[in-house]
Amino acid sequence: MRIAFISDIHGNFTALEAVLADIKKQSVDQIFCLGDTVSLGPQPREVLETLHEIKSINIKGNHDGAILEPEKAAFYEITEHLVPDLYWGRERLTNADYDFIKSFEDTHALTFPNGVELLAFHGSPLATTHLIQATTDSSLLDTYFDGQKATVLIGGHSHIQMHRRYGNKLILNSGSVGNAFIFAFSPGKPPHLLPWAEYAILEQTDNTFSVDLRRVYFDIPKLVKIIREGDLPGKAWWLRQYGAE
Ligand SMILES: [Fe+2]
Repeated sequence: MRIAFISDIHGNFTALEAVLADIKKQSVDQIFCLGDTVSLGPQPREVLETLHEIKSINIKGNHDGAILEPEKAAFYEITEHLVPDLYWGRERLTNADYDFIKSFEDTHALTFPNGVELLAFHGSPLATTHLIQATTDSSLLDTYFDGQKATVLIGGHSHIQMHRRYGNKLILNSGSVGNAFIFAFSPGKPPHLLPWAEYAILEQTDNTFSVDLRRVYFDIPKLVKIIREGDLPGKAWWLRQYGAE
């Protein structure tokens, strides 16, 4: 069984298209989307339409929560200067899009044919805003995964791919499709992006289990053109990421 995990698309449809083209060549059985689908980037509608089409299992991210409840942006830990982007994204969505986002799950459990149990989430199984990194203290991991029988735990949110074994558990982050960070986010400092998209494929065969943390290069000039021609509040930041000011 082969499963693809995509996360943190953030309205970057150009990156999503490239990742889905790569997934198509990988013959996977299912696609999971681990949240943060639409806010920040220029093409929220195209992203949602495509997720609907590919019938992915969708997990709710903190930005998805904030798109539904923008008055609670601080609760979802949306930095104040990103709030205008949140409203810009909201204006582009239809009622059907909102219903679709409302259908996203908090977590999703899966058992591979050999009995290995997996749990998918956005931040941690407890909250979309929990940040799990390679350096996260083990006491926090114990809290986040307390009583958790799944031994493969996969999330997004940090925008940085991760493969961390912790006791008998494997803690994974598939990275970000639309917003791969160079360094971990720190409050007050706008992040910088890498010029590629990230995702993961997990595979279980008869007696193996493997993780493929993949990188896909996408059409940056195409994304820059879309951003340049639009009126996204975060336009200048996006263009700066690709040296296209
Ligand atoms: Fe995100």
